Amino acid sequence: MLLAPSLLAANFANLEAEMKWFNQSTADWLHLDVMDGVFVPNISFGFPVLKHVARICQKPLDVHMMIVQPEKFIAEVKALGAYLMNVHYEACTHLHRVIWEIHEAGMKAGVTLNPSTPISVLQDIAADVDLVLLMSVNPGFGGQKFITHTLQKIAELRQLLDRTGSKALIEVDGGVNLDTGRQLRAAGADVLVSGSYVFSAPDPIQACAALSAL
Ligand code: DX5
Ligand code: ZN
Repeated sequence: MLLAPSLLAANFANLEAEMKWFNQSTADWLHLDVMDGVFVPNISFGFPVLKHVARICQKPLDVHMMIVQPEKFIAEVKALGAYLMNVHYEACTHLHRVIWEIHEAGMKAGVTLNPSTPISVLQDIAADVDLVLLMSVNPGFGGQKFITHTLQKIAELRQLLDRTGSKALIEVDGGVNLDTGRQLRAAGADVLVSGSYVFSAPDPIQACAALSAL
């Protein structure tokens, strides 16, 4: 199972120490939650902070843009050396163009759905994206309870991907721990994002290993 720990749950006063264990863990990607206080009711960190994190992180960056008009920041995300840029379906009026621009910049492109957004909206974009990120909490905060309906959405998404010939990975974000992670694995998820479960664990390296082994 691919694992992308979310930096949102890190100790921001000691990011260097957090990156030290992270680099040694089984984590595959580092998940970065960019917020604007408009699309979501919270603000996390911006590019001046992420620039330093990117320099010491030795794994691919999975950037989750929880902002309106994410296309304005494609160059900034690219400058971080990001592997993947996730944009919300709900934040893009011209989603096809944004996906095209992310690819033009040389990054993988992901589309993210809020819990209340149906899978069916992906019908005409699934074949163009490298990943679909399903939110299993309402975006904006770490430490929220997993919405179990996500498990049904994964099955529906898998069918849509098969039908449209899409090779997109299925990533899930919010309330992921060993228990919900196991259910997500069984439902067909490919990538797990996990914030508080990993970063507040007594042994984060071990917590990563347990999730990776699912
Ligand atoms: C929520 C963010 C998540 C968050 C997950 O808005 O997109 O990536 O960090 O945190 P946990 O795993 O604590 O739910
Ligand atoms: Zn996220």
